[in-house]
Amino acid sequence: MNLCCRINGVEMTLETDPERRVVDLLREELGLTGTKEGCGSGECGACSILVDGEHRLSCLMVAAQLEGRAVTTIEGLGEPGRLHPLQEAFVRCGAVQCGFCSPGMILAAAALLKKTPHPGRDEIRQGLSGNLCRCTGYQKIVDAVETAAGLTNPDGAPPTAPHARPALAEEGEASRCAAPAQPPPPPGGHSARLRRGGQVRHRVLLPRSLAELWSFLEEEPGARVWAGGTDLSVQLRVGRAVPPALVCLERIAELRTIEEDADCLRIGAGVTLGRLIADPRIGDDLPVLKRAAETLGSPPIRAMATIGGNICTASPAGDTLPPLYILDAEVELRSRTATRSMPIGSFITGPGTIRREAGEILTAVRVKRPAAYGLQHYEKIGQRKALACSVASLAALLRLSPEGTIEAIRLAWGSVGPTVVASPAIEALLLGERPSAAVLARAAEATRHTVSPIDDVRGTAEYRRTAAANLLLRFLHGALAQR
Ligand SMILES: Cc1cc2nc3c(=O)[nH]c(=O)nc-3n(C[C@H](O)[C@H](O)[C@H](O)COP(=O)(O)OP(=O)(O)OC[C@H]3O[C@@H](n4cnc5c(N)ncnc54)[C@H](O)[C@@H]3O)c2cc1C
Ligand code: FES
Ligand code: FES
Repeated sequence: MNLCCRINGVEMTLETDPERRVVDLLREELGLTGTKEGCGSGECGACSILVDGEHRLSCLMVAAQLEGRAVTTIEGLGEPGRLHPLQEAFVRCGAVQCGFCSPGMILAAAALLKKTPHPGRDEIRQGLSGNLCRCTGYQKIVDAVETAAGLTNPDGAPPTAPHARPALAEEGEASRCAAPAQPPPPPGGHSARLRRGGQVRHRVLLPRSLAELWSFLEEEPGARVWAGGTDLSVQLRVGRAVPPALVCLERIAELRTIEEDADCLRIGAGVTLGRLIADPRIGDDLPVLKRAAETLGSPPIRAMATIGGNICTASPAGDTLPPLYILDAEVELRSRTATRSMPIGSFITGPGTIRREAGEILTAVRVKRPAAYGLQHYEKIGQRKALACSVASLAALLRLSPEGTIEAIRLAWGSVGPTVVASPAIEALLLGERPSAAVLARAAEATRHTVSPIDDVRGTAEYRRTAAANLLLRFLHGALAQR
């Protein structure tokens, strides 16, 4: 394909395979080797770039996604002889040892400072939580970002003002390239029109509306839908999926809206977890869903991953699923000719399996505001603080009477069964009770018998049974203490 995009401020037309990973395009075709590949699966942040100013992981993107976009790599951030304030701060604070993680760290920090010009240390840690460093220790990296933001200054020199930096080249969509291509900047040094042999294995289609999507799905019936690509790209890489074509949903505006009516929120399947978290209606009405989304992956994963992708992946560890189960969410499926809805629990039929027909996509999930419950809760146990796949999780809704009696309760566990485990029996056991030690012990025992976890690399079945019961106990103790 002829790919038109702007890289480090230069308009380019590149002849490349549309399914080529962006990290490979940058490193191998453009010689922009400042972008590193560590894990190749979204877990280290070494391949971080900015796309239209947003932090993205280039190992999880295909070249076609860059059409019309503006990309900044580390080579485009500073200038020879004039470092970007973040680069300067990394040097000044000693935040670099081997340097492998540094380009990714600096670009992640640039995206963070653009959104939050004066972050606190916790916000910096959060913002960089998808970027791993194996040498320096994070303290100096956090110091460097703080210094660049002009908040502190370790050596007494005037603080570096982030606003004094040269304007980033990536803001706004690149113009559609009718103009002749210009050469990329050094160190790439190639002609802008790059030719590459290699067979195209997948077509990559970028519909801009649902009408265009239906046509593409008819043209390529074996195509896989690509939403954020955070799950599918990993499947493609390990050969678990070999579709003839990929249909990217990211440019279909109809899929990216959150709408509300009297008692319901309709969340488009293409809404990213990052947008979901930032929407005040989700925070106000569905804090359990917001909290679950906040625990998913890392900032760049949440910026790319969609709620529709999380539902359709149908993983027992999918973080948005337990909240959606207790909120009685309905999924909306559409094809060119029909629309149908069903409860999420009917849509997901097993680990990785869903009731989706050919020519159909998930367009939205509809969630009622749970007005009858005063307390919404999500807790996940993982092996680390960020980028942790759930070992066990619990989503809960609760209403207590002023005397402490349970008047209404909904419970659903993740990662402790082939799909989400919801248990009307445990809810019934607790309903109308004041949670005494004896009642809590009965509920914990019932939980251990209701869940059906497996042993895997993240934990044993026995550990997960105990964790599921303890999540419930901790939630109920906390709720009673808050009263
Ligand atoms: C490093 C890393 C960490 C992660 N951590 C977590 C985590 O903590 N918790 C968690 O739950 N998940 C995690 N994931 C998994 C993944 O990010 C999520 O499941 C994410 O929500 C998938 O969304 P996506 O838009 O990227 O889906 P994609 O990868 O684009 O698609 C996933 C699947 O859903 C299908 N699909 C997507 N959208 C639609 C649609 N609208 N209609 C029909 N089919 C569709 C695709 O064809 C594909 O089969 C992680 C992934 C990575 C790489
Ligand atoms: S190479 Fe590790 S996140 Fe991309
Ligand atoms: S400096 Fe070596 S990995 Fe971070």
